[in-house]
Amino acid sequence: MTETTPPNPIRSARLLIAGLVAVIVVLALALIVLTVQRSAEVSARPERVNVLADSQDECVACHRQSTPGIVEQYGHSSMAAAKVTCQDCHVVAASYPGAVAHEGTHVLNQPTTAMCERCHAAEVAQFNQSRHALPSYVAVAGSQELTPELLAAYQAIPEGQFAPDKARNIIAQLEGPEITRFACENCHNIGKPAADGSVGQCQKCHSRHEFSLEQARKPETCNNCHIGPDHPQWEIYFESKHGIAYATGGENWNWEAEPGTLTVQDFPAPTCATCHFSGFGGTGTTHDAGDRLTWYLFAPLSERRPAWQDNQVRMQSVCSACHNQNFVDTYYTMADGATEAVNAFIVQSNDILQPLRDQQLLTDQLFDEPIEFTHYETWHHYGRTAKFGVWMQGADYTQWHGAYEVVKGLAELRHLADELLTR
Ligand code: HEC
Ligand code: HEC
Ligand code: HEC
Ligand code: HEC
Ligand code: HEC
Ligand code: HEC
Ligand code: HEC
Ligand code: HEC
Repeated sequence: MTETTPPNPIRSARLLIAGLVAVIVVLALALIVLTVQRSAEVSARPERVNVLADSQDECVACHRQSTPGIVEQYGHSSMAAAKVTCQDCHVVAASYPGAVAHEGTHVLNQPTTAMCERCHAAEVAQFNQSRHALPSYVAVAGSQELTPELLAAYQAIPEGQFAPDKARNIIAQLEGPEITRFACENCHNIGKPAADGSVGQCQKCHSRHEFSLEQARKPETCNNCHIGPDHPQWEIYFESKHGIAYATGGENWNWEAEPGTLTVQDFPAPTCATCHFSGFGGTGTTHDAGDRLTWYLFAPLSERRPAWQDNQVRMQSVCSACHNQNFVDTYYTMADGATEAVNAFIVQSNDILQPLRDQQLLTDQLFDEPIEFTHYETWHHYGRTAKFGVWMQGADYTQWHGAYEVVKGLAELRHLADELLTR
């Protein structure tokens, strides 16, 4: 008897289920193998433990409930490992300017540089001498509201008062404080004075509460402010050979290397911090952003800085850790030439406007006539961008977002001026 069993629907369903189960088991096994491999890789990296995990400290114990993120971040920081406490930065006497009563003590909600200064006197002193400190703040807020002490401190900064054109402040007035507190002030408050008379906000670069070297050394930190049409340093860096090296190999660089000991082994190519802040080559670590600069590039017409020769030696000794001195000298000579060439274009743009002012064809008010915007953008956006592109190796910014727009601006200015003069 040949009995061909008719297809049994229950049996085929079972087979299907068994098959599916087998597939799932295989997939799950594969996943487990991958995860094990993954965690082996992760644990190969030095993992910083949370030193506050078992802390009985009262701030930590309570804030583990109210703000677990802060305790988690701070617990992984090197400062927590060095036994610096929440109290060290936050707790002050009841009479301290800005103190608020909190859980039986008094705290600052926003610890000031006076708190950091107790342990980091050198960094605070260098920062205070730089244009990141009071000059940044004064660029927007003016110096009228400064206390006599702060005014004296501002006037004592050697490179502090060089600011030949504050045209942007008129733009701030046109926009109004509802806007500018989210715009100008957000960036320029890096140098804002606090109630206790100390200056600046270290946390603009050292994000709380990790205070990580890796984060401060990465160019994204500067991207908070050094971007956009008038100071596109971030964009320029990313199209430079240095930025390409960072973007394509940076994950293998030694980001947590001890400050002051950095070599080409840690950083085969520079980030913003390497050239402007880090101890590298023959140059020591600094918190004065102007310490290595030759020119005032942000100015309409660039001039050399006081003591620029010393600054230049410091910057070049960073370059020379990776480049031949002859290569660096040649580069500087050509970049000086390009800076002078942009100056010459901007002189032309001023000369085009002068007869209009002489013949009172423009109002005294700035930024109420289209030609004033064209003139302003020619130096403030494009002239600067061309210079920044030259000095930090961004060919496209030097060319199409820089020099090209400058010569185009000159043609437009001539046309607009002729119209006004022959009207
Ligand atoms: C018993 C719980 C508790 C303790 C102890 C405690 N905090 Fe707080 N803290 C809170 C809570 C809840 C908040 C948010 C509500 C508030 O502002 O009071 C807070 C807010 C804060 C703020 C922000 C205040 C603001 O207005 O933005 C700071 C800074 C702070 N705590 C620091 C500390 C420090 C430093 C200590 C240790 C000296 C501490 N806290 C101890 C519970 C606590
Ligand atoms: C090295 C100094 C430092 C230490 C140590 C420190 N903080 Fe802060 N903390 C700051 C700074 C700076 C700010 C203000 C940041 C700002 O407003 O831009 C801040 C802000 C805060 C705030 C209010 C802002 C927010 O995000 O809610 C709380 C709450 C706070 N800290 C709690 C703590 C606790 C809890 C600890 C200990 C686990 C601690 N801090 C340790 C420097 C410190
Ligand atoms: C009570 C002393 C003390 C105070 C206050 C203090 N620090 Fe520190 N800080 C230290 C010590 C100690 C270290 C060294 C940690 C190390 O090298 O392992 C350190 C390291 C650092 C580092 C380098 C981190 C690293 O991984 O090497 C930064 C950035 C920093 N502090 C920023 C600040 C800022 C910003 C403030 C003020 C808001 C501040 N500190 C307040 C003691 C302090
Ligand atoms: C995205 C951040 C950012 C915003 C927004 C911003 N600035 Fe700036 N500003 C900078 C940076 C960065 C420089 C430095 C450029 C350089 O040195 O090459 C600068 C330079 C300046 C300068 C020239 C330096 C000086 O001290 O004279 C002035 C003036 C100025 N800004 C005013 C303003 C005003 C007014 C506004 C708002 C209308 C504003 N800025 C908006 C980041 C910003
Ligand atoms: C413009 C960004 C910026 C600001 C603002 C800033 N820092 Fe730094 N800081 C850095 C960078 C970048 C490094 C890493 C330097 C290096 O590569 O060695 C650093 C390193 C440090 C270190 C470790 C240095 C060492 O030699 O051990 C300390 C401490 C520190 N900063 C404190 C401060 C304090 C305090 C302030 C506020 C007065 C501040 N920083 C403001 C960018 C900044
Ligand atoms: C929160 C905003 C902010 C951040 C973040 C910031 N800067 Fe600045 N920076 C400014 C402003 C504003 C100025 C212009 C100050 C002036 O001339 O008035 C400036 C000026 C400078 C200058 C020129 C100084 C001079 O003497 O003319 C350099 C160089 C510089 N920054 C480098 C950096 C680097 C590198 C970083 C990142 C590690 C950084 N900045 C992060 C706001 C910032
Ligand atoms: C290879 C080194 C190097 C790197 C990387 C670098 N810079 Fe520069 N930077 C320079 C040099 C050189 C100058 C021109 C200095 C002079 O005046 O001699 C300059 C100029 C500047 C200026 C203009 C200051 C003025 O006078 O207006 C700012 C602001 C600045 N850099 C910020 C940055 C930022 C932000 C980054 C990263 C996004 C960065 N730099 C990356 C070397 C570097
Ligand atoms: C930490 C090492 C390091 C430092 C410091 C450094 N560079 Fe470089 N630089 C490099 C590397 C890597 C390249 C890419 C070389 C290549 O293209 O093969 C490069 C490329 C260049 C180029 C060629 C760009 C191109 O488009 O071909 C110039 C120009 C340059 N650097 C100038 C400078 C100047 C100026 C300084 C100092 C302000 C400096 N570098 C600092 C590593 C460095």
